[in-house]
Amino acid sequence: MRLKPFLLDMWLDTYEHDIEFNLAASEGPRWTLNEILNLASEEERERFLNHKLGYSRPAGAEGLRAAIADMQAVNVDAVQVVTGASEALLILMWLATEPGANVVLPQPGYPPFSALPESLGIEIRYYAVRKENDFGIDLEEIKQLADRNTKLILVNSPHNPTGATISDAELDSLHEFTASREIQLVSDEVYHPIYHGQATRSASRLPHATVIHDFSKAFPLAGVRTGWMIEHDSKRRERYWNARTIFSISNNTAGEMLAETAMRHRDIVLGRTQQIATQNLRQLASFMSEHRETLAWIPPRGGMTAFPWLVSGENSRAFCQAAAEQGILLAPGDCWDAPSHFRLGFTAMTDKFPVALNRLGEFVKSWSAANVTKA
Ligand SMILES: Cc1ncc(COP(=O)(O)O)c(C=O)c1O
Repeated sequence: MRLKPFLLDMWLDTYEHDIEFNLAASEGPRWTLNEILNLASEEERERFLNHKLGYSRPAGAEGLRAAIADMQAVNVDAVQVVTGASEALLILMWLATEPGANVVLPQPGYPPFSALPESLGIEIRYYAVRKENDFGIDLEEIKQLADRNTKLILVNSPHNPTGATISDAELDSLHEFTASREIQLVSDEVYHPIYHGQATRSASRLPHATVIHDFSKAFPLAGVRTGWMIEHDSKRRERYWNARTIFSISNNTAGEMLAETAMRHRDIVLGRTQQIATQNLRQLASFMSEHRETLAWIPPRGGMTAFPWLVSGENSRAFCQAAAEQGILLAPGDCWDAPSHFRLGFTAMTDKFPVALNRLGEFVKSWSAANVTKA
Protein backbone atom coordinates (compact mmCIF):
# COMPACT_ATOMS: atom_id res chain seq x y z
CA MET A 1 0.00 0.00 0.00
CA ARG A 2 1.37 3.42 -0.98
CA LEU A 3 0.09 6.84 0.03
CA LYS A 4 1.07 9.59 -2.43
CA PRO A 5 3.06 12.48 -0.89
CA PHE A 6 0.85 15.22 0.56
CA LEU A 7 2.57 18.09 -1.32
CA LEU A 8 0.45 20.81 0.29
CA ASP A 9 1.23 19.80 3.85
CA MET A 10 4.92 19.32 2.97
CA TRP A 11 4.97 22.90 1.68
CA LEU A 12 3.04 24.30 4.67
CA ASP A 13 5.12 22.44 7.23
CA THR A 14 8.34 23.73 5.62
CA TYR A 15 7.36 27.40 5.91
CA GLU A 16 4.35 28.09 8.06
CA HIS A 17 5.97 27.81 11.49
CA ASP A 18 8.26 30.80 11.11
CA ILE A 19 6.91 32.84 8.20
CA GLU A 20 6.08 36.50 8.83
CA PHE A 21 2.78 36.57 6.89
CA ASN A 22 0.83 33.37 6.43
CA LEU A 23 -1.49 33.80 3.43
CA ALA A 24 -1.58 30.07 2.71
CA ALA A 25 -3.63 28.87 5.69
CA SER A 26 -7.21 27.85 5.01
CA GLU A 27 -8.51 28.41 8.54
CA GLY A 28 -10.30 31.27 10.24
CA PRO A 29 -8.65 33.41 12.94
CA ARG A 30 -7.29 31.11 15.64
CA TRP A 31 -8.52 31.05 19.22
CA THR A 32 -6.41 30.48 22.33
CA LEU A 33 -7.39 27.96 24.99
CA ASN A 34 -7.89 30.86 27.35
CA GLU A 35 -10.29 32.64 24.97
CA ILE A 36 -12.40 29.50 24.59
CA LEU A 37 -12.46 28.93 28.34
CA ASN A 38 -13.56 32.53 28.80
CA LEU A 39 -16.69 31.74 26.77
CA ALA A 40 -17.57 28.97 29.25
CA SER A 41 -19.43 29.43 32.54
CA GLU A 42 -17.54 29.11 35.85
CA GLU A 43 -19.05 25.66 36.32
CA GLU A 44 -18.00 24.49 32.82
CA ARG A 45 -14.44 25.71 33.45
CA GLU A 46 -14.31 23.74 36.73
CA ARG A 47 -15.65 20.66 34.96
CA PHE A 48 -13.03 21.08 32.22
CA LEU A 49 -10.13 21.43 34.66
CA ASN A 50 -11.21 18.48 36.80
CA HIS A 51 -12.47 16.00 34.22
CA LYS A 52 -10.90 12.54 34.18
CA LEU A 53 -8.58 11.86 31.24
CA GLY A 54 -10.07 8.51 30.28
CA TYR A 55 -11.51 7.40 26.94
CA SER A 56 -14.51 9.24 25.62
CA ARG A 57 -17.40 7.38 23.94
CA PRO A 58 -16.79 6.14 20.38
CA ALA A 59 -19.81 8.08 19.03
CA GLY A 60 -18.57 11.19 20.87
CA ALA A 61 -19.29 12.85 24.22
CA GLU A 62 -23.02 13.23 24.75
CA GLY A 63 -22.91 16.99 25.42
CA LEU A 64 -20.91 17.62 22.26
CA ARG A 65 -23.20 15.46 20.13
CA ALA A 66 -26.24 17.31 21.48
CA ALA A 67 -24.68 20.70 20.69
CA ILE A 68 -23.81 19.57 17.14
CA ALA A 69 -27.32 18.14 16.62
CA ASP A 70 -28.73 21.52 17.63
CA MET A 71 -26.62 23.40 15.05
CA GLN A 72 -27.38 20.88 12.30
CA ALA A 73 -31.10 20.63 13.19
CA VAL A 74 -30.97 16.81 13.34
CA ASN A 75 -31.68 14.13 15.90
CA VAL A 76 -28.72 13.51 18.20
CA ASP A 77 -28.53 9.87 17.04
CA ALA A 78 -27.48 11.13 13.60
CA VAL A 79 -24.21 12.60 14.97
CA GLN A 80 -20.95 10.64 14.90
CA VAL A 81 -17.95 12.54 16.32
CA VAL A 82 -14.56 11.86 14.69
CA THR A 83 -10.92 12.98 14.99
CA GLY A 84 -11.27 15.79 12.47
CA ALA A 85 -12.94 15.56 9.07
CA SER A 86 -9.75 13.65 8.14
CA GLU A 87 -10.98 10.62 10.06
CA ALA A 88 -14.42 10.92 8.47
CA LEU A 89 -12.75 10.73 5.04
CA LEU A 90 -10.69 7.75 6.12
CA ILE A 91 -13.80 5.92 7.38
CA LEU A 92 -15.84 6.70 4.24
CA MET A 93 -13.13 5.70 1.77
CA TRP A 94 -12.25 2.59 3.75
CA LEU A 95 -15.87 1.47 3.81
CA ALA A 96 -16.30 2.23 0.09
CA THR A 97 -13.47 -0.14 -0.82
CA GLU A 98 -14.64 -3.13 -2.83
CA PRO A 99 -13.26 -4.85 -5.93
CA GLY A 100 -14.24 -2.79 -9.00
CA ALA A 101 -15.57 0.15 -6.94
CA ASN A 102 -15.19 3.76 -8.06
CA VAL A 103 -15.66 7.13 -6.39
CA VAL A 104 -16.46 10.50 -8.01
CA LEU A 105 -14.41 13.47 -6.76
CA PRO A 106 -13.80 17.16 -7.55
CA GLN A 107 -10.64 18.24 -9.39
CA PRO A 108 -9.07 20.35 -7.95
CA GLY A 109 -9.96 19.11 -4.47
CA TYR A 110 -8.51 18.70 -0.99
CA PRO A 111 -5.62 16.27 -1.75
CA PRO A 112 -6.60 13.48 0.73
CA PHE A 113 -9.93 13.10 -1.17
CA SER A 114 -7.91 11.28 -3.85
CA ALA A 115 -4.89 10.05 -1.83
CA LEU A 116 -7.11 7.73 0.24
CA PRO A 117 -9.02 5.91 -2.53
CA GLU A 118 -5.89 5.78 -4.68
CA SER A 119 -3.99 3.99 -1.91
CA LEU A 120 -6.93 1.63 -1.31
CA GLY A 121 -7.04 0.68 -5.00
CA ILE A 122 -10.41 2.31 -5.76
CA GLU A 123 -10.89 3.83 -9.20
CA ILE A 124 -11.21 7.63 -9.09
CA ARG A 125 -13.40 9.55 -11.55
CA TYR A 126 -12.89 13.29 -11.46
CA TYR A 127 -15.40 15.98 -12.26
CA ALA A 128 -13.89 19.35 -13.12
CA VAL A 129 -14.25 22.52 -11.06
CA ARG A 130 -13.44 24.84 -13.99
CA LYS A 131 -12.56 28.50 -13.87
CA GLU A 132 -14.37 28.86 -17.24
CA ASN A 133 -17.50 27.97 -15.26
CA ASP A 134 -16.66 30.29 -12.32
CA PHE A 135 -15.43 27.14 -10.50
CA GLY A 136 -18.99 25.83 -10.52
CA ILE A 137 -19.92 22.17 -10.93
CA ASP A 138 -21.60 20.65 -13.96
CA LEU A 139 -24.36 18.33 -12.74
CA GLU A 140 -24.58 16.47 -16.06
CA GLU A 141 -20.85 15.76 -16.01
CA ILE A 142 -21.09 14.30 -12.49
CA LYS A 143 -24.13 12.20 -13.34
CA GLN A 144 -22.45 10.81 -16.45
CA LEU A 145 -19.39 9.73 -14.50
CA ALA A 146 -21.44 7.53 -12.16
CA ASP A 147 -22.31 3.92 -12.90
CA ARG A 148 -23.47 0.89 -10.91
CA ASN A 149 -19.99 0.49 -9.32
CA THR A 150 -19.96 4.06 -7.99
CA LYS A 151 -19.85 3.93 -4.20
CA LEU A 152 -19.83 7.61 -3.48
CA ILE A 153 -19.95 11.08 -4.99
CA LEU A 154 -18.19 13.74 -2.95
CA VAL A 155 -18.97 17.45 -3.07
CA ASN A 156 -17.21 20.19 -1.11
CA SER A 157 -19.02 23.47 -0.60
CA PRO A 158 -17.70 26.07 0.11
CA HIS A 159 -14.89 24.53 -1.89
CA ASN A 160 -11.23 24.35 -0.92
CA PRO A 161 -9.26 25.86 -2.64
CA THR A 162 -11.55 27.91 -4.97
CA GLY A 163 -14.21 29.23 -2.54
CA ALA A 164 -16.96 28.22 -4.99
CA THR A 165 -20.31 27.09 -3.61
CA ILE A 166 -22.94 24.61 -4.75
CA SER A 167 -26.48 25.97 -4.76
CA ASP A 168 -29.31 24.35 -2.77
CA ALA A 169 -31.00 23.40 -6.05
CA GLU A 170 -27.83 21.71 -7.37
CA LEU A 171 -27.43 19.76 -4.14
CA ASP A 172 -31.10 18.74 -4.19
CA SER A 173 -30.69 17.48 -7.74
CA LEU A 174 -27.57 15.46 -6.86
CA HIS A 175 -29.34 14.06 -3.80
CA GLU A 176 -32.26 12.89 -5.88
CA PHE A 177 -29.92 11.32 -8.43
CA THR A 178 -27.69 9.53 -5.86
CA ALA A 179 -30.64 8.34 -3.74
CA SER A 180 -32.34 6.80 -6.77
CA ARG A 181 -29.13 4.85 -7.61
CA GLU A 182 -28.13 3.96 -4.03
CA ILE A 183 -24.92 5.96 -4.34
CA GLN A 184 -23.70 7.68 -1.19
CA LEU A 185 -23.66 11.49 -1.48
CA VAL A 186 -20.95 12.94 0.77
CA SER A 187 -21.02 16.67 1.46
CA ASP A 188 -17.80 18.11 2.93
CA GLU A 189 -18.91 21.30 4.65
CA VAL A 190 -15.90 22.27 6.76
CA TYR A 191 -16.12 25.89 5.47
CA HIS A 192 -19.88 26.17 6.07
CA PRO A 193 -21.44 28.57 7.08
CA ILE A 194 -18.99 31.24 5.88
CA TYR A 195 -20.43 32.95 2.77
CA HIS A 196 -19.76 36.08 0.72
CA GLY A 197 -22.93 36.08 -1.31
CA GLN A 198 -25.93 33.80 -1.29
CA ALA A 199 -25.65 31.46 1.74
CA THR A 200 -26.47 27.80 1.08
CA ARG A 201 -27.96 25.18 3.39
CA SER A 202 -26.27 22.18 4.95
CA ALA A 203 -26.90 18.78 3.36
CA SER A 204 -27.90 17.59 6.85
CA ARG A 205 -31.48 18.42 5.72
CA LEU A 206 -31.31 15.69 3.07
CA PRO A 207 -32.25 12.18 4.31
CA HIS A 208 -29.79 10.19 2.18
CA ALA A 209 -26.77 12.53 2.32
CA THR A 210 -23.74 12.19 4.60
CA VAL A 211 -22.27 15.42 5.98
CA ILE A 212 -18.71 15.85 7.18
CA HIS A 213 -17.74 18.92 9.15
CA ASP A 214 -15.15 19.99 11.70
CA PHE A 215 -13.81 22.42 14.28
CA SER A 216 -10.76 23.34 12.14
CA LYS A 217 -11.99 25.87 9.55
CA ALA A 218 -15.16 27.93 10.07
CA PHE A 219 -14.73 27.04 13.76
CA PRO A 220 -10.98 27.75 13.75
CA LEU A 221 -9.82 25.39 16.53
CA ALA A 222 -7.85 22.84 14.50
CA GLY A 223 -5.86 21.96 17.64
CA VAL A 224 -8.88 20.23 19.21
CA ARG A 225 -8.71 17.69 16.31
CA THR A 226 -12.46 17.20 16.39
CA GLY A 227 -14.92 16.79 13.55
CA TRP A 228 -18.28 15.17 12.97
CA MET A 229 -20.45 13.27 10.55
CA ILE A 230 -24.22 13.59 10.12
CA GLU A 231 -25.78 10.38 8.94
CA HIS A 232 -29.50 9.60 8.93
CA ASP A 233 -29.06 5.95 7.89
CA SER A 234 -28.66 3.79 11.02
CA LYS A 235 -26.97 0.89 9.12
CA ARG A 236 -24.26 3.21 7.81
CA ARG A 237 -23.88 4.70 11.29
CA GLU A 238 -23.19 1.28 12.78
CA ARG A 239 -20.41 0.81 10.25
CA TYR A 240 -18.89 4.22 11.08
CA TRP A 241 -19.08 3.47 14.80
CA ASN A 242 -17.27 0.18 14.28
CA ALA A 243 -14.60 1.72 12.03
CA ARG A 244 -14.14 4.48 14.54
CA THR A 245 -13.55 2.08 17.46
CA ILE A 246 -10.93 0.32 15.33
CA PHE A 247 -9.18 3.44 13.97
CA SER A 248 -9.03 5.69 17.02
CA ILE A 249 -11.49 4.40 19.73
CA SER A 250 -12.60 7.89 20.74
CA ASN A 251 -11.62 11.56 20.67
CA ASN A 252 -9.41 13.24 23.24
CA THR A 253 -11.67 14.36 26.09
CA ALA A 254 -10.25 17.88 26.48
CA GLY A 255 -10.74 18.55 22.76
CA GLU A 256 -14.35 17.41 22.92
CA MET A 257 -15.10 19.71 25.87
CA LEU A 258 -13.52 22.72 24.17
CA ALA A 259 -15.36 21.89 20.94
CA GLU A 260 -18.64 21.71 22.86
CA THR A 261 -18.04 25.16 24.37
CA ALA A 262 -17.24 26.59 20.93
CA MET A 263 -20.38 24.98 19.48
CA ARG A 264 -22.60 26.30 22.29
CA HIS A 265 -21.19 29.78 21.64
CA ARG A 266 -21.19 29.43 17.86
CA ASP A 267 -22.73 32.86 17.32
CA ILE A 268 -19.53 34.38 18.69
CA VAL A 269 -17.04 31.89 17.19
CA LEU A 270 -18.56 31.72 13.70
CA GLY A 271 -19.42 35.44 13.89
CA ARG A 272 -15.75 36.29 14.32
CA THR A 273 -14.71 34.10 11.38
CA GLN A 274 -17.38 35.65 9.13
CA GLN A 275 -16.50 39.20 10.19
CA ILE A 276 -12.76 38.79 9.50
CA ALA A 277 -13.46 36.93 6.25
CA THR A 278 -15.78 39.68 4.98
CA GLN A 279 -13.45 42.50 5.97
CA ASN A 280 -10.30 40.86 4.54
CA LEU A 281 -12.03 39.77 1.34
CA ARG A 282 -12.98 43.39 0.62
CA GLN A 283 -9.30 44.38 0.90
CA LEU A 284 -8.26 41.40 -1.19
CA ALA A 285 -10.69 42.46 -3.93
CA SER A 286 -9.03 45.88 -4.26
CA PHE A 287 -5.61 44.24 -4.16
CA MET A 288 -6.57 41.89 -7.01
CA SER A 289 -7.93 44.75 -9.06
CA GLU A 290 -4.72 46.75 -8.54
CA HIS A 291 -2.57 43.81 -9.72
CA ARG A 292 -4.82 42.58 -12.52
CA GLU A 293 -2.05 42.72 -15.09
CA THR A 294 -0.18 39.97 -13.25
CA LEU A 295 -2.89 38.14 -11.29
CA ALA A 296 -6.43 37.03 -12.10
CA TRP A 297 -9.09 35.48 -9.91
CA ILE A 298 -12.70 34.52 -9.43
CA PRO A 299 -13.86 35.99 -6.12
CA PRO A 300 -14.83 33.24 -3.65
CA ARG A 301 -18.53 32.89 -2.77
CA GLY A 302 -17.81 31.12 0.49
CA GLY A 303 -15.08 29.85 2.79
CA MET A 304 -11.72 31.40 3.53
CA THR A 305 -9.58 30.69 0.46
CA ALA A 306 -9.27 32.00 -3.10
CA PHE A 307 -7.51 30.34 -6.01
CA PRO A 308 -5.99 33.11 -8.18
CA TRP A 309 -3.69 32.38 -11.11
CA LEU A 310 -0.75 34.00 -12.88
CA VAL A 311 -2.00 35.75 -16.02
CA SER A 312 1.20 34.64 -17.79
CA GLY A 313 0.03 31.03 -17.35
CA GLU A 314 3.40 29.96 -15.93
CA ASN A 315 3.83 27.52 -13.06
CA SER A 316 3.37 29.41 -9.77
CA ARG A 317 5.86 27.38 -7.70
CA ALA A 318 8.80 29.73 -8.41
CA PHE A 319 6.50 32.71 -7.68
CA CYS A 320 5.41 31.17 -4.35
CA GLN A 321 9.00 30.24 -3.50
CA ALA A 322 10.19 33.82 -4.15
CA ALA A 323 7.23 35.21 -2.13
CA ALA A 324 8.16 32.95 0.81
CA GLU A 325 11.67 34.40 0.69
CA GLN A 326 10.05 37.84 1.16
CA GLY A 327 8.15 36.53 4.22
CA ILE A 328 4.78 35.84 2.52
CA LEU A 329 3.43 32.33 2.38
CA LEU A 330 1.11 31.30 -0.49
CA ALA A 331 0.42 27.70 -1.53
CA PRO A 332 1.51 26.63 -5.05
CA GLY A 333 -1.19 25.29 -7.35
CA ASP A 334 0.74 22.16 -8.33
CA CYS A 335 -0.34 20.78 -4.91
CA TRP A 336 -3.79 20.54 -6.64
CA ASP A 337 -2.51 19.71 -10.14
CA ALA A 338 -3.35 23.29 -11.17
CA PRO A 339 0.18 24.71 -11.61
CA SER A 340 -0.56 28.29 -12.71
CA HIS A 341 -2.82 28.85 -9.69
CA PHE A 342 -1.96 29.44 -6.06
CA ARG A 343 -4.11 29.32 -2.94
CA LEU A 344 -4.46 32.48 -0.91
CA GLY A 345 -6.06 32.12 2.53
CA PHE A 346 -7.55 35.42 3.61
CA THR A 347 -9.00 34.80 7.08
CA ALA A 348 -6.29 33.32 9.31
CA MET A 349 -4.63 36.76 9.63
CA THR A 350 -6.47 39.54 11.43
CA ASP A 351 -4.88 42.97 12.14
CA LYS A 352 -1.79 42.31 10.03
CA PHE A 353 -3.72 41.34 6.89
CA PRO A 354 -3.41 44.80 5.24
CA VAL A 355 0.33 44.86 5.98
CA ALA A 356 0.64 41.37 4.46
CA LEU A 357 -1.18 42.54 1.32
CA ASN A 358 1.13 45.57 1.06
CA ARG A 359 4.16 43.32 1.25
CA LEU A 360 2.63 40.95 -1.30
CA GLY A 361 1.89 43.95 -3.56
CA GLU A 362 5.55 45.05 -3.48
CA PHE A 363 6.59 41.52 -4.26
CA VAL A 364 4.14 41.19 -7.19
CA LYS A 365 5.41 44.46 -8.69
CA SER A 366 9.05 43.40 -8.46
CA TRP A 367 8.19 39.93 -9.82
CA SER A 368 6.38 41.28 -12.84
CA ALA A 369 9.06 43.93 -13.51
CA ALA A 370 11.73 41.18 -13.46
CA ASN A 371 9.62 39.01 -15.79
CA VAL A 372 9.07 41.86 -18.27
CA THR A 373 12.84 42.38 -18.32
CA LYS A 374 13.42 38.63 -18.96
CA ALA A 375 10.87 38.64 -21.79
C1 LIG B 1 -12.15 20.34 2.43
C2 LIG B 1 -11.47 19.75 3.62
N1 LIG B 1 -11.97 18.63 4.18
C3 LIG B 1 -11.39 18.06 5.25
C4 LIG B 1 -10.26 18.61 5.84
C5 LIG B 1 -9.65 17.93 7.04
O1 LIG B 1 -9.59 18.78 8.16
P1 LIG B 1 -9.60 18.31 9.67
O2 LIG B 1 -9.09 16.91 9.74
O3 LIG B 1 -8.73 19.28 10.38
O4 LIG B 1 -11.02 18.38 10.15
C6 LIG B 1 -9.70 19.77 5.29
C7 LIG B 1 -8.47 20.37 5.83
O5 LIG B 1 -7.83 21.22 5.25
C8 LIG B 1 -10.33 20.36 4.15
O6 LIG B 1 -9.87 21.48 3.59
